[in-house]
Amino acid sequence: MFETYSEIFAERGAAYHGAMAECPHARDAEFAAVLGPLAGREGLLCDMPSGGGYLAAHLPAGMRYVGVDPSEDFVRACPVGVECVQAPIASVPQPDASVDCIVSLAALHHEPDLPAVFREMRRLLKPGGRAVIADAAEDTPVADFLNGFVNANNPMGHEGHFLDELTAGLIEDARFAISEDTIIDMPWRFHSLDEAGAFCRQLFWMPELSAEQVAAAMDDEIGFDMIDGRPHLSWALRRIVADAV
Ligand SMILES: C[S@@+](CC[C@H](N)C(=O)[O-])C[C@H]1O[C@@H](n2cnc3c(N)ncnc32)[C@H](O)[C@@H]1O
Repeated sequence: MFETYSEIFAERGAAYHGAMAECPHARDAEFAAVLGPLAGREGLLCDMPSGGGYLAAHLPAGMRYVGVDPSEDFVRACPVGVECVQAPIASVPQPDASVDCIVSLAALHHEPDLPAVFREMRRLLKPGGRAVIADAAEDTPVADFLNGFVNANNPMGHEGHFLDELTAGLIEDARFAISEDTIIDMPWRFHSLDEAGAFCRQLFWMPELSAEQVAAAMDDEIGFDMIDGRPHLSWALRRIVADAV
């Protein structure tokens, strides 16, 4: 058994990173969905929090990348040549108005102080800069799967506070204008149901379960579409596009 929080987190972060390494294309639609509203933009993109810097491989030409994550394990796991810094996302070691674009993907449900994070995003952005925030929306199948099945089967639990009716107002309070706020389908694509189950078992660290059990729960609670013989998990996140004003 693990004795300290940091040992547990190191194990969990390693499992998340291992899943991303084994299925590097499963979440391609998710990365495309957060970069879509930034099409045609150039300059520095800050990914906060970045995990292992996965978004960096998807950036269009003309965009540079800096990832920020509070976890030392994730920062160490970033590929060579991908700039990632260890810092809280409410206190990013970058100057004011130094960043052209911000992405925050699948993570704000862990953050206890969202107003501080949105203020930090606004501080970092240059005039005319844009932030794309995507995470599970409250009371959706993805949120219920994470706080239900994952919470019951991950040894650390999973209690996320998902995007809700207060989120847009908090973003506007930080001096952003919201140009889009909607739930977007971003299906996770696999070669087989076994691969899908093994991916989520590892990504969400549910070591006591088999891949088959995890795939069955994914099917029951979120659902797969079979397209060209390949299972597509019906993953959908709320995407908010916010422009600095
Ligand atoms: C589900 S991962 C998402 C990472 C990456 N954006 C992705 O899409 O793969 C969640 C990330 O949130 C970070 N995290 C954990 N606690 C946090 C907190 N209180 N505030 C911000 N980020 C946190 C973790 O280090 C991890 O990198």
